[in-house]
Amino acid sequence: MLSYQHAYHAGNMADVHKHALLAWMLDYMIQKPKALSYMETHAGRALYDLRGPEAIKTGEAAQGIALAAKWFAKDHPYARALAKTRAVHGPDIYPGSPQIALDTLRFEDELTLAELHPAEVEALRAALPGVTVTQTDGYAMALSRCPPDPRRGLLLCDPSWEVKSDYDDVPEFLRKLHRRWPVGVLALWYPVLTDGRHKPMMRALHRQFPDAISHTVNFPPARPGHGMVGSGMFVVNPPYGFVDEAKALSRLFARV
Ligand SMILES: C[S@@+](CC[C@H](N)C(=O)[O-])C[C@H]1O[C@@H](n2cnc3c(N)ncnc32)[C@H](O)[C@@H]1O
Repeated sequence: MLSYQHAYHAGNMADVHKHALLAWMLDYMIQKPKALSYMETHAGRALYDLRGPEAIKTGEAAQGIALAAKWFAKDHPYARALAKTRAVHGPDIYPGSPQIALDTLRFEDELTLAELHPAEVEALRAALPGVTVTQTDGYAMALSRCPPDPRRGLLLCDPSWEVKSDYDDVPEFLRKLHRRWPVGVLALWYPVLTDGRHKPMMRALHRQFPDAISHTVNFPPARPGHGMVGSGMFVVNPPYGFVDEAKALSRLFARV
């Protein structure tokens, strides 16, 4: 039973962190003329209405992208993707990761997205006609399709972490995926939680991938007592320049 709906959280500070790094990495990777593959295990719906009841109810976007939009130079890949989406869909629409990828990538690049929730899949297919969207478990989809064609590429794994076993299963998933696709850029988003639930998983991941990079930013909880106080991105095979971009983001988040 899937209860998580990203519409309540779209455009929050965690999305700003995740999407800024994602847009930057993809933009860097398209500087080479060779086509690439983009895959997502947990895609969500691609377009979110920040004036919808879900966003209004939590107020997370008001404390997120509404404040952070002005942090980014107009030519930052995240700012460009945001502007591109809003030029087409209106100023209150926020792009999820599949839309950011589509706005950043080129015609020749391949997108393959998995999403399980029926309503999210329907919205995703409507938003991104022509893109391969499978209504399957994202972990199984990735393992069955990797290595992808083209082999150059990036996979984003962005679980909702509502299933507690995700924390135990993700290291093994990434181990198997990396064995099948050693050259793939594997990016995992994870929450930084006050109860430290993410920590054993992160220790296991860093033991497994000693050269991988983990970048975290901190921000105030969305509501008093809310357990998420930061956002993390763990990247295997990070693109050149990732560390500098991450440092620049750390400076931006120091304003929160
Ligand atoms: C955090 S949201 C995705 C947000 C999106 N990546 C973005 O940044 O815009 C996680 C999504 O994963 C979906 N989901 C949960 N378990 C899944 C699974 N095993 N396979 C595929 N999708 C799943 C949920 O329905 C939800 O839409």
